[in-house]
Amino acid sequence: MSDTLSLLLGHHSDRSFRDDPVDGAVLDEIVAAAHQAPTSHNAQHVSLVIVQDAETRRHIAAIAGGQPHIARAPVFIAVIIDFAKTGAALTLHGKEQQVHHHLEGLVAGSVDVGIQIATLMIAARASGLGAVPIGGIRNDLAALNTLLALPQGCTAVTGLCIGHVDQPAAVKPRLDLSTYRHDERYSDKDIAPAIVDYDNRLAAHWAAIGRMEGESWSASIAEFYDHDYYPGVAAAFAAQGLFTEKE
Ligand SMILES: Cc1cc2nc3c(=O)[nH]c(=O)nc-3n(C[C@H](O)[C@H](O)[C@H](O)COP(=O)(O)O)c2cc1C
Repeated sequence: MSDTLSLLLGHHSDRSFRDDPVDGAVLDEIVAAAHQAPTSHNAQHVSLVIVQDAETRRHIAAIAGGQPHIARAPVFIAVIIDFAKTGAALTLHGKEQQVHHHLEGLVAGSVDVGIQIATLMIAARASGLGAVPIGGIRNDLAALNTLLALPQGCTAVTGLCIGHVDQPAAVKPRLDLSTYRHDERYSDKDIAPAIVDYDNRLAAHWAAIGRMEGESWSASIAEFYDHDYYPGVAAAFAAQGLFTEKE
């Protein structure tokens, strides 16, 4: 098996970091890898804000609802949907950008942010570092956008902690592959037994790694997905002039 495939098959999020810094040249390579990632229309409507300042990381940890690994990891990268750059391109042609008012802009930008996160994570792990994505910044997205001095047309969506791993995390099991892979047509079979099976396997996983308080998958999803868990997101987008459909 190739090194790349075994890296992907061994994917796990790390949250236990040492506080020694990431070498500047290594960080440059990780950023260069993500810079070369594909984007919709080659529009490149993504940017990174790289935060290494400890006080700013503590502030971001609080914004994300109190996530200590953000303060602990030496590098936090905010991944930004950036329609300021594309807006400037339209200005060169005497046109006014509209895509950032529409859901299509949100979908295109969010897909590209996801590709950035995956690329950064793989590049970090290939460099011997650990990483964890941080969607928790949307807990108070307006505060983060202000903290990072983002201009109109830009918003953070997700971030990523990178650093040297202290205690390596275990590989977490997934729902059965049959709930994920559909050949030719989507197979609309009863998913409930697969969820019960996964809840049991995840409980065994938590017990094996000594996390006796670990929740079942269905319970943890039910805790979030029965309400709008980050209710400030739409207002934070609107404050940046984003994704508010124009009349
Ligand atoms: C977009 C995205 C946002 C995430 N946000 C957070 C977060 O805010 N805090 C955190 O500790 N983990 C976060 N995670 C990590 C997930 O909890 C983790 O990927 C999931 O539990 C599966 O575990 P694994 O990555 O170790 O396989 C996020 C993952 C993704 C892909």
